Amino acid sequence: MTNKKIKIALVFGTRPEAIKMCPLVKKLEQNPCFDVLTIVTAQHRQMLDSVLELFDVKPDYDLNLMKPNQNLWSLSSDILLETKKVFEKEKPDLVLVHGDTTTAGLSALSAFYARIKIGHVEAGLRTFDKDYPFPEEMNRILVDSISDLMFCPTDKACSNIKESRINKGVYKTGNTVIDALFYVIKNKKANLDFINLNPDLKTILVTSHRRENFGEPLRNICFAIKELVEKNKNIQVVYPLHMNPNVRNTVKPILDNIDRIKLIEPLDYLPFCALMKESSIILTDSGGVQEEAPSLGIPVLVLRQETERPEALEFGGVKLVGTNKETIVSTVQELLDNKNEYEKMSKAINPYGDGYACSYIEKIILEYFNL
Ligand code: UD1
Ligand code: UDP
Repeated sequence: MTNKKIKIALVFGTRPEAIKMCPLVKKLEQNPCFDVLTIVTAQHRQMLDSVLELFDVKPDYDLNLMKPNQNLWSLSSDILLETKKVFEKEKPDLVLVHGDTTTAGLSALSAFYARIKIGHVEAGLRTFDKDYPFPEEMNRILVDSISDLMFCPTDKACSNIKESRINKGVYKTGNTVIDALFYVIKNKKANLDFINLNPDLKTILVTSHRRENFGEPLRNICFAIKELVEKNKNIQVVYPLHMNPNVRNTVKPILDNIDRIKLIEPLDYLPFCALMKESSIILTDSGGVQEEAPSLGIPVLVLRQETERPEALEFGGVKLVGTNKETIVSTVQELLDNKNEYEKMSKAINPYGDGYACSYIEKIILEYFNL
């Protein structure tokens, strides 16, 4: 065995990827067998930077690619060309990407073209519908197809990959989001005073950003929230708006300046975790929030027709409600009125990991390189 270090490049660019990859950067950096390179595409700029700061991760390469209201074509080609330059210069032994974003799909493709080994963190998620979520379902299928190591959060994710006849390199590790969540809750103190929550009211937390929900579906969600607040004088809604203009331009005209509805800027991860803990119910189309909230015992209603995360549905902490106004209103109302139903959802188990996913991934990489 030589003393040569294994060079690992972690590539990410959006808020959720950063939350789920920063704990892994930190973990791998502690191991003297590895030379760790952090490459950020900055597919998201502000929402990425706030996570980097929280975890004190300083990228070796910042490609700074985000453009206002960017499109899939230009972002994709920028990622492909800019990562090529870094991969050719640095020649990593392994490239790690996360999940299903444009950053993940195109950085993995770029590494594949450069004949570099690929590890996929959060591998194996599927809805089995190429249009939902769009374009993420195809990104994750692409990344799994060209990966050498696949780190799956659950048994279901492992079996999804094995069903496509890939049997080598598939490992169950749990989701690194639970590592991130536990780290933040244990080590950092949040202050929510700036939101001015009324302690006498129940808080409903809302997030949304999915492309398939732009337009009519997101309008329906907003009208459902408006109706719920009008009907229930004992609730307040906090809605941190994603920076995507397609979200803001729809939500603001319907929900701005309404009593007991707070439209706020995206929260840094630390206060967001604290706000999830303070909430009675979460309405979301986010992937990460579906994984985190069951760990905190907060019922989640998913504003989508399908989910690639069916485990929490089976365990009972999450329900799919879609984007129909009446269904959203009646499901939230049931949770507000029916204590038994609420208790059932809030006592459900978290199926997404034990907070040690990064350690399992580290061990698998060491074994892969015979270290
Ligand atoms: C992306 C991912 C989606 C992921 C989501 C997480 C793809 C195809 N989609 O979607 O899978 O769930 O991120 O949030 O990769 N913006 C800013 N500042 C920021 C972030 C975004 O101004 O810090 C605005 C910009 O105008 C940007 C736009 O939001 O162009 C859209 O960003 P983009 O990454 O293309 O799409 P998302 O909807 O964020
Ligand atoms: N999040 C955050 N601030 C917010 C909203 C969400 O820090 O205002 C976190 C959330 O805890 C989760 C992640 O961002 O870890 C989810 O990101 P997003 O919903 O944008 O993407 P997805 O998970 O759907 O890909």
